[in-house]
Amino acid sequence: MKVVILDDAAAVARYGADIYREQLRKKPDSVLGLATGSTPLSLYRELIDGNRRGEYSFAGVTSFNLDEYMGLSADHPQSYRQFMNREFFTHIDIDPANTHVPPGDAVDPIQACRDYESAIAAAGGIDIQLLGIGRNGHIGFNEPTSCLNSRTRVKTLTRETIADNARFFRADEFQPQLSVTMGIGTIMEARLIVLLATGQSKAAAVQAMVEGPVSSWCPASALQFHSSTVVIVDEAAASEL
Ligand code: GLP
Repeated sequence: MKVVILDDAAAVARYGADIYREQLRKKPDSVLGLATGSTPLSLYRELIDGNRRGEYSFAGVTSFNLDEYMGLSADHPQSYRQFMNREFFTHIDIDPANTHVPPGDAVDPIQACRDYESAIAAAGGIDIQLLGIGRNGHIGFNEPTSCLNSRTRVKTLTRETIADNARFFRADEFQPQLSVTMGIGTIMEARLIVLLATGQSKAAAVQAMVEGPVSSWCPASALQFHSSTVVIVDEAAASEL
């Protein structure tokens, strides 16, 4: 695990964008694993700008998102599918047909999870997986006590995660308590993993991930076993290292 500590969130986004620039130039048909949350937004903006400047294209790219809320259809404004369309996909030259987000409203969720795994395998596996981290050490929606070898499946969200994400929902709005998420085993198969964390609120999770024992209590600690992971953090998120 390589840990890169930079001054601030803007520098984290720029450093991350450089990794993608290089990857897309080297392999224009890359398979990208993508993430939601507020942390990757500035990286997405960097990538949109680079795409507009013609530095690289997403035309040959296939993407797979980490997770989705269970119970929200793809056209629900609060779904991660809509988040990705709004914040990233509609601003770049990617073919929408090549973007994948786990379905939150499948009639048979167990089969849908198997199909998602098969689609990743059929695409040749993920070249770069982008990750954020929850305050409790979750990656995707792999909450503490997740099996470190897990595959794409339905997961119950913890109270802490529900509370953390409540800021995105109006008080009178349905907030899902279940998710569909790639498993930790799925994530660990990515050839390169780029994890971004910024701000003081992530400092304890970053410390547990990087220096703590590998444990399902901190799902991100499994990344210590991954041979090619870059953790990019700002000074605040690195403050407990
Ligand atoms: C969400 C997402 C994660 C994300 C995390 C942190 O619950 N499922 O993929 O990394 O929470 O989000 P943020 O970047 O907004 O702090």
